This record gives sequence, structure tokens and C-alpha cells, in this order.
Amino acid sequence: MSEKFYSRSELIDLISHYKSFRKTFAEKAREIQKENFADGIFIRGLIEVSSFCRCSCYYCGIRKDNFCAERYRLSDNEILERCKYGYKKGFRTFIFQGGEDLVFSDIRIANLISEIKKRFSDCAVTLSLGERDEKTYRLWKEAGADRYLLRHEAADPKLFSILHPAEQKLETRLHALETLKKLGYQTGSGFMVGAPYQTIENIADDILFLQNLKPEMIGIGPFIPHNKTPFANYQNDFEKRTDENSTNENSSEEITSCTLTSSLDRAELTCFLISLLRIIFPHALIPATTALNTLSKTGRTDGILSGANVIMPNLSPLETRTKYDLYEGKSNRALECAEELERLENEMNKIGYKILFNERGDFKNK
Ligand code: 5AD
Repeated sequence: MSEKFYSRSELIDLISHYKSFRKTFAEKAREIQKENFADGIFIRGLIEVSSFCRCSCYYCGIRKDNFCAERYRLSDNEILERCKYGYKKGFRTFIFQGGEDLVFSDIRIANLISEIKKRFSDCAVTLSLGERDEKTYRLWKEAGADRYLLRHEAADPKLFSILHPAEQKLETRLHALETLKKLGYQTGSGFMVGAPYQTIENIADDILFLQNLKPEMIGIGPFIPHNKTPFANYQNDFEKRTDENSTNENSSEEITSCTLTSSLDRAELTCFLISLLRIIFPHALIPATTALNTLSKTGRTDGILSGANVIMPNLSPLETRTKYDLYEGKSNRALECAEELERLENEMNKIGYKILFNERGDFKNK
């Protein structure tokens, strides 16, 4: 199956009219997904290793400058225990995700990776620990890490600078992604849908960027405001504005940059973009993200039925789960959790899919 790449103007047109396209795109995406993965859904055990972060991204609940955030770090033993538990449940990929926390030193992470590879030799290790130097990424790769998730967040430098403090640079992020690819990681990137001030053109540019990068994994999810961040009221302000203007609402299916921010639209648009990404990247690993499931009760199944093929249940210790507080109401609902795999499996079976237990689920571009 060859990839289908879109031009910028095609993407803008598709996104602007996504409500008219979403059914046919979801059908096509499902067809491609079934062709490549049959009815299989991969699971990854997500271990949130630290809620400390040296960055202060304006949208993120664990930003350094949120003095209300509860901070924790898992010990190596706690992490290994969670892997052991996850392994028994049938997980064969562990994701270490965390804020940019240098207490998790290069060598400490490297040792942890080696230990996991020694104890669970048929497992993949995915890292999601933010920006580090090439020598660090190399050390971790040599220790046995397989994959790295680093969302680019916004391919447009202007939007990137609206979402991040000046010391964070888009250039650095893009360079890190290139480095990860060069070192042979299966690399993941992505962005938030309906991020503050994001326009349709921005989303088109994000997809163009992904077409260029050709990542193995693509994570997208709706933006959800967190009340202790500078964007706390972004959605409320917006909803007030649209209420006032509701008489002007046109009945056409066209969306404008503004309409992106209503929560229903963000979940629906995320699903449409999952379908579009599945069509562009037939073999990619695309999760139905926790953010999507937080915003919409049916987010996870909607994501799968739009072409996603990965679920990342939370494998963090129960006590710390609520502290990894990226956005408001982050879903800790039962099925998000590793303890509830049976119910998750039932949910997948009901919509015609099955969970691939005991499988790593690798994909590597040539
Ligand atoms: N809403 C949705 N997603 C968020 N992330 C961080 N903060 C938010 C938020 N408020 C996403 C970012 C990051 C990933 C780990 O979580 O895209 O890369």
C-alpha cells in the first residue's frame, strides 16, 4: 500500500470541511487499518515516572511554574515492579513518560533500560522524556531503548512560541526528532488538536511536517485546559464569545479557526485527523489517546473506529496516577487502567477488534 501525501491547500480544504468528509474518511481509514493489522489493537503500558519538569509549557499542568502541582518521582524499584505486573498482564511494551526531570540522569535511565531488557527480553522500551542531547539519546539507544515519543507540538514557529516560553525553541525540538531518527529509534511525534490560537492552516502545516518526517508513531489528542496554567480560561473565554455570536453562526459545514476550540469539535476533529493520518500512513502506530477519551465518553472507541490501532493503559502506581496531572479531568476512569484489561478487551470485541496480548507491535520505516 503506497502512501498518499496531500498538498497544503488540499489539507486546508479537507480540515475546513471535515464534517462532510469524516464518515467516508473513517471508512477508508478502517479499511486500511484492517488490511494492515487485521482486527488487532496493540497495548502499551504507560508508566509516568516523574511529575517534575524543568519546562514551563503554557498548556501543561505539570509545568515548572505551576506551584500547585503535586510532584513525585518513582523509584527504580517501583518502576520495575510495575513492569513485572504489566508483563504478567500481557504487556510487551513499556513506555516511560515523564516531565523533563534531570534527577532521572542519563545513566540512571540507561541502567533502568538495561535492567528491563534483561528481565523482560521480549519487551520493547519506549521513552517519552523530552529533549536531551544526542549523546544521551545514543546512550539510551545502546542500553536497548527501542522507541522515542516526542511531539513536535506545533510546526509553525509562531504558534510554537505562543505555546512555549522563549527558551524553548522549535528548532531544538525538530533537531531532537532528526537525531532520534538518525540513531535508529522508532520515532513518534504529534500535536494537540484545538491548542490555543491554533488555526486550520497550523494543523495543515503539522500534517505537512509529519509527511516530511515520516514518523513510525503519531500521537494526537484534543487540547484540554488545565486550571493552573496560563491557558486556564482559554475555552471558557471562547465559549462566551461564541454564545454572544451564536446568531451569526452559519449553517454550512465549513469550520473556521475559531470553531476549533469548542470541546465537541476538538474531539470530532481529532477523530477525523486520525482517519486522515491513517490514510497517509497506512502502517503507523496511532493511539487513541487518553486526552481523547477524557474529552469524550466514547473517545477511545471513536478513535479506534477512526483508524487508531494502539491503546496505552495506565500502568503507573495507583497512588501517583492523579498527580500526573497534564490537563483537567485527565481520564483515570477504570478502563484506562492496566487493571481493567479484561473490560477493555470486551469493549474492543464489541466493536470488532481484539487486543494483541504478548506482542511488541514494532514498525520501522526503511
Ligand atoms: N491538553 C491536552 N494535551 C496536553 N498535553 C500537555 N498538556 C496538555 C493539555 N492541556 C500533551 C502534550 C504533550 C503530551 C505528553 O501531552 O502534547 O506532548
